[in-house]
Amino acid sequence: MTIRNIEKLFDLSRPAMQTIIKKFQSDMKAGLSGNKSSLKMIPTYVEMPTGCERGRFIALDLGGTNFRVLELTLEGSHKVSAPRIMKFALEKKHINGTAEVFFDFIADSVKTFIKKYKISGAAELDLGFTFSFPIKQTGIASGILICWNKGFKARGVVGNDVVKLMKEAFIRKGVGNIKISALVNDTVGTLVARAYEDALCDVGVIIGTGTNACYPEKLACIKKWKGAKNKSRHMIINIEWGNFDKLALTQFDRYLDKTSENPGRQMLEKMVSGMYLGRIAGLILKDMAREGVLSCGCDSLFRKGESFETEYMSVIEGDNTDSLKLTAGLLKKMGLSGVSLNDRKTIKEICSIVSLRAARISASCITAIITKIDPDVSGRHAIAIDGSVFEKHPTFADNMKKTLKDLLGKRSSRIKLVLAKDGSGKGAAIIAAVAAAAG
Ligand code: GLC
Repeated sequence: MTIRNIEKLFDLSRPAMQTIIKKFQSDMKAGLSGNKSSLKMIPTYVEMPTGCERGRFIALDLGGTNFRVLELTLEGSHKVSAPRIMKFALEKKHINGTAEVFFDFIADSVKTFIKKYKISGAAELDLGFTFSFPIKQTGIASGILICWNKGFKARGVVGNDVVKLMKEAFIRKGVGNIKISALVNDTVGTLVARAYEDALCDVGVIIGTGTNACYPEKLACIKKWKGAKNKSRHMIINIEWGNFDKLALTQFDRYLDKTSENPGRQMLEKMVSGMYLGRIAGLILKDMAREGVLSCGCDSLFRKGESFETEYMSVIEGDNTDSLKLTAGLLKKMGLSGVSLNDRKTIKEICSIVSLRAARISASCITAIITKIDPDVSGRHAIAIDGSVFEKHPTFADNMKKTLKDLLGKRSSRIKLVLAKDGSGKGAAIIAAVAAAAG
């Protein structure tokens, strides 16, 4: 297939994006009503913060193989002290082992953190637990894992309350004086952390290894909500947009899905997130090498198409040298020297085509959320976004902004995309503060 064919195949025109918006909103509605929908629309039991929450809190932030333990103080008046942070890495044996091995390692890490920073005292400390997988929340501090994604597989977790499993591990490992007060998705943490400082913020998004979004919804519109329905109240809804399944698929998306660990699931995530973008580009390049469109002996490399990483796309697309020498250097490191300039240009174009589609899908879904909250976009909105793709990819954020303009014209100037780095831990602490205050 030529570049132009690929470009056509991956192109998202304005009408195509408007269709995405319509279908996304219709799935949002169905999900809120408890009808069949690819969007789970999970009520989180979390309301928006006031900015006055205070106190000292611990947060545990886990959503990928690297996780963090934090301690921070909320000072009220919209300010958070600089947190103390320790990072830990889960290994294959943890994510592929049993629930006990998995949670014991996390409990040990919390213990290491507490010891290092001498966090002890008579009073029990509240902990906000960010656990960024599809969780059916059953309360502010309880929730059942619906399924794993992002390559996680630990046995005995799906179908169980992850807070209960975490607490049991704390007991086994002798982590005392800590109370898990809130269970939080990373999008919700990101939204709440930003909203603590900025009242205009009303959407939280992650575009990293995985991708997802959340926003506050009127209780009256959450038809499936069985609890009290005070008309003026809102609750944050975890959309789990990664599972949206009404996008047009190419043969590359189909192949990637079929050979993935979770076929048929997380279809949007497979077209947008860092775990998969490189794989899609790799599959296309492999095909082009096989057909001789790329001449460079790349076929040996792209025969291992799956190992083309999303980070490579950032390097290649950010390579603005005339001779694409950064790309040449990267390819050399991957075992391919002497790739012609023409081929390097093709590789760069393919990466751009794949990342542009991802940015346009993300911006379309954000437009769907904003126009659900505010149909005419008459107010101003800040979207808190975290994740390696949004942060590090050289054109992703810009392409999202341009797409918002394509879709909304001048009104797009009322929407600000804000990089909300490391908000999910901070947000979990704020949510723990609200939960602790409520008793
Ligand atoms: C996956 C998870 C979701 C999370 C996202 C970003 O899509 O299902 O809960 O928010 O990754 O980490």
